Amino acid sequence: MPEKYTPGYSSNATNFMANRTVDSHAVFFLPYLRPGMKLLDCGCGPGTITLGLARAIAPGTVTGIDQEASQICIAAENTLKQAIANANFRQANIYDLPFANESFDAVFSHALFEHLQEPAKALQEIFRVLKPEGVIGLRSPDWSGFLIAPSTPELDQAMSYYKWLQQQNGGNLEVGRELRALLRQAGFINIKASASYQCYEPLSLAAEYLALQIEVAVNVPQGVEKEAYDVKLMSNALREWSQHPDGFFAQTWCEVVGHKG
Ligand SMILES: C[S@@+](CC[C@H](N)C(=O)[O-])C[C@H]1O[C@@H](n2cnc3c(N)ncnc32)[C@H](O)[C@@H]1O
Repeated sequence: MPEKYTPGYSSNATNFMANRTVDSHAVFFLPYLRPGMKLLDCGCGPGTITLGLARAIAPGTVTGIDQEASQICIAAENTLKQAIANANFRQANIYDLPFANESFDAVFSHALFEHLQEPAKALQEIFRVLKPEGVIGLRSPDWSGFLIAPSTPELDQAMSYYKWLQQQNGGNLEVGRELRALLRQAGFINIKASASYQCYEPLSLAAEYLALQIEVAVNVPQGVEKEAYDVKLMSNALREWSQHPDGFFAQTWCEVVGHKG
């Protein structure tokens, strides 16, 4: 089955990603960045993290790539709004990067590897475009570490359904814990792994995102019987959870940094 990007490109999905910044999602990579570096951000989406990386390496240049043209347009608009001069964006696929060998001092990728069917192939490309001694930083969730309370059968069904959708689309829900191994197998050295939690506050930020995702069920593969799932029951469960006085959602993020020898 061909790989599909589960969240899709609705305003719900794009706005959800656009809440992210370097300070909220990429602090682990900052110690490895230096002014003047040339950095590539793979799967940049709306570019809100990318623009923070641009500030960190100025007067160096950040290039953000994404397979989806609409995300490149939004990232370019955000660049203009924030008056950032050292960031550029182009449409490209991580499996076939349009850059010469040894072009970048650093490569970053946030929340992409959980959607990839062929992570080793993507890392081969990143390895190719990194300069010797270049640094790579990856961050992806690991769904088995998520903390959710209070649990109800309906909420469990909603979470299971979304997980199932992502798996059907070729994603790997537990890639977070595998990032270290993937880097080592790709030839990177001096690997450091870490993990952190994102606690959604207010909870509605995540619950409403997931409810809308389930309602539109983006990229449901052909032949899947969506009717087998009670969409209304699941989206209601998510919305009730978001209003629950004890509602809690902490998402596990795994991070790795490695070097090209
Ligand atoms: C979950 S979003 C993350 C966006 C951003 N990095 C962030 O964390 O806010 C993943 C992005 O990767 C892009 N993407 C998915 N598969 C890709 C591929 N094979 N090559 C390039 N981009 C890809 C999607 O279009 C999407 O914009």
